[in-house]
Amino acid sequence: MAIMTWDAQTDEPAKRPQGRAFADARVAHCKVALLGFGTVGQSVAELLCLQSHSHLRLTHIFNRQVKRKQASWVPSYVRWTEDIDEVLASDVDVVIEVVGGVDPAGSWVRRALESGKSVVTANKHLIAKHGTELLEVARQNGQKLEFGASVAGGVPVLCGLEHGLSGERLFRLAGVLNGTCNYILSNMESRGLSFADALAKAQELGYAEADPSDDVHGVDAACKLAILARVGFGADVHPDKIHRRSIEGVEAIDFRYAKKLGATIRQTSLAEVRGNDLLAAVQPAVVPHSSPLAHAKDNQNALLATGVHGGETLFAGRGAGGGPTSVAVVSDVVSISRKRVPPANSEASSLKTYSVNHNFEFPYYLRLTLRKVGDSAGVTRILSKHGIEVRSVLQRPRGAKAKSPLILLVEPCRALELEAALQEMVKQGCLPQEPLSLPLLS
Ligand SMILES: NC(=O)c1ccc[n+]([C@@H]2O[C@H](COP(=O)([O-])OP(=O)(O)OC[C@H]3O[C@@H](n4cnc5c(N)ncnc54)[C@H](OP(=O)(O)O)[C@@H]3O)[C@@H](O)[C@H]2O)c1
Repeated sequence: MAIMTWDAQTDEPAKRPQGRAFADARVAHCKVALLGFGTVGQSVAELLCLQSHSHLRLTHIFNRQVKRKQASWVPSYVRWTEDIDEVLASDVDVVIEVVGGVDPAGSWVRRALESGKSVVTANKHLIAKHGTELLEVARQNGQKLEFGASVAGGVPVLCGLEHGLSGERLFRLAGVLNGTCNYILSNMESRGLSFADALAKAQELGYAEADPSDDVHGVDAACKLAILARVGFGADVHPDKIHRRSIEGVEAIDFRYAKKLGATIRQTSLAEVRGNDLLAAVQPAVVPHSSPLAHAKDNQNALLATGVHGGETLFAGRGAGGGPTSVAVVSDVVSISRKRVPPANSEASSLKTYSVNHNFEFPYYLRLTLRKVGDSAGVTRILSKHGIEVRSVLQRPRGAKAKSPLILLVEPCRALELEAALQEMVKQGCLPQEPLSLPLLS
């Protein structure tokens, strides 16, 4: 790392708060380049230019069509560029990647590591899909690759698992990790909105993208769960192997019954190690109000990590937004600049390959729209044939064509048993509409 002096008199950033930033004006520091000047990139730049990290010096900001991005509060010594080669050929110590997407961001991260720079990224897609090979490139080049902001934004879950709980043998992770789903489901609950109306509201307020599929179908959360499983369990798991079910089948009526059960509905991300198996799924689930996962609303995230020795540890806080995410990014840069050696858990060489499935055992909430009222008996018979016992009937179908659904709670059963039973009901023509099954978390 280069040693440079800092002239606090001439290099003063415009928005520096109360001179905190340069209390120690002549220190060794670490040169940082920023790739991407969007929501997170701008907040990161503010932290680096205006805050108290006097040993970190932002030297380059890279973005396409960079002229339109230039901000007057960024100090004049920072070089604005749209030439990635210029950044990679420079003598920066750390490259921060907050462009997003797998390509071309992935090739820039790889080239930065190969040219002797450490990298900090907030990019869950990139790390979930190519983390193993990029960590290996980092190792071969004697550099660090940190990605603390890629899961749960400002909540230090990865750092907490990797450092704070490194002495623990974790076997279960249960999280609420997607702000868009939280926003939609919270609004369905509190305002009785339909899924479509809650989604439209989320899009209007900027909580959901124009194409929300990655969020509502669980792709985003599966990437985060894959990264958590890597850091928490040392598991090498590709996000595509994680079972996903969309939240779009959930309706306002399900919240009414969840409330009667003292619970709510959240998109949950669950992973559990059982011997050589890794059970993993992202799905809507009934979560009791007494669980901390039920309290995650809007852009809040929560993760319960369970270990053999210490039991449950809860991480919770704001999981998205420029402010919280930039704190996680800059914390990673600080960690690299302090040359803290990470534990071996997430190093490629120590990862274990598990057989991945989603055969969790839970009691389930079932909402089944029947072809006709008389099909109730057939449903119970098929459940029993698959060894699934009905615990209680919350609602019986009414009307000649069974317009109101049959709503059941069933005793704990394996996910695959239940799927087989539901498939049989569909095959026998009992269910003209897609059934909804939600695990009941304890
Ligand atoms: N936002 C959050 O709350 C949050 C939370 C956790 C993690 N993250 C992660 O942080 C990363 C950045 O997210 P963000 O919300 O800051 O995204 P964003 O607002 O879209 O910012 C991305 C920036 O990168 C630039 N960019 C995109 N493609 C480029 C290319 N090919 N060449 C040069 N510049 C390019 C964009 O320029 P244009 O202005 O031209 O598009 C924009 O300035 C993503 O990986 C995201 O998953 C975000």
